Amino acid sequence: MRLDKFICKHTDLSHRDSRWAVAAGRVTVADSLITDPRAEIDRFVRVKLDGRVLQECQAHYIMLHKPAGYLSATSDPEHPTVMELMPSSMRELLHIGGRLDRASTGLLILTNDGLWSRRLTEPGKKLPKVYRVSTAEPIAADAEQRFAEGFYFATEGLTTTPAQLERLGETEARVTIYEGRYHQIKRMFARVGNRVVELHREKMGLIELDLALTPGEFRALTEAEVASV
Ligand code: URA
Repeated sequence: MRLDKFICKHTDLSHRDSRWAVAAGRVTVADSLITDPRAEIDRFVRVKLDGRVLQECQAHYIMLHKPAGYLSATSDPEHPTVMELMPSSMRELLHIGGRLDRASTGLLILTNDGLWSRRLTEPGKKLPKVYRVSTAEPIAADAEQRFAEGFYFATEGLTTTPAQLERLGETEARVTIYEGRYHQIKRMFARVGNRVVELHREKMGLIELDLALTPGEFRALTEAEVASV
C-alpha cells in the first residue's frame, strides 16, 4: 500500500494532510525517515507517525499442540481459551487459523497475518486437513465410500468435498477433509451412525504437528512451513 494512503487509513488525517505529514518528515518506516508519500510499504513493516507506532513490524506464525478442554477463542467467561497458552504480549495480535472444538486436540495455528491464514482455511483452496479419530461404535463397512461421496449438509446447503477415510482399527480412523465446516468430522460420522469420542488434528496442508510438542506447548513455524501455504 502507498504510504500516504496507509497514514490516511490509520489516523484521523485527511489524504492531503497525510501526504504533508510524510513530506514533512514526521513518518518513519522500519525506523528510517521516509519523505516520499508514494513509497510502497509492506504489511509487516513498522510504521510510526510522530514516534507513535501505527503498525507493528513482525509477522508471527505459531503452531500450538492444543490440549483438550481449551476453547479456540480469544476469550470466554466459562472455559480456558488457547490464547491463555500464548505469551501475554502476543495475545492481542493473534488470531486462529482453523478452529478445533473444545474437546479436540492437536495442531492449531495462530498468526497475525490475515491474508496467509485465509489461504490456510478457505474451503476453495482445498488444503487437506488430516485428523485421527476414535469412535464410540465400530466404523460402518461402507464408511470409506460414504465419506468419498460427500454428505449433503442442509444447514449450509452444500455437499462436502470427497474425503478419505483410512481405517486404522475397529473404532479408529485417519480422515482427510478439504474444508473446515462446523463440527464437520463429527457430523460426517453421525451420518454413518457413529459418534466421535476423540479427535486429534495431525496435519494442515504440509504442516504437521511437531511430535516434540507436548499438549499446551507451541513453537514458531519454520520458514518452509510458512511458505508451504
Ligand atoms: N471437525 C470436528 O467435528 N471438530 C473439530 O474440532 C474439527 C473438525
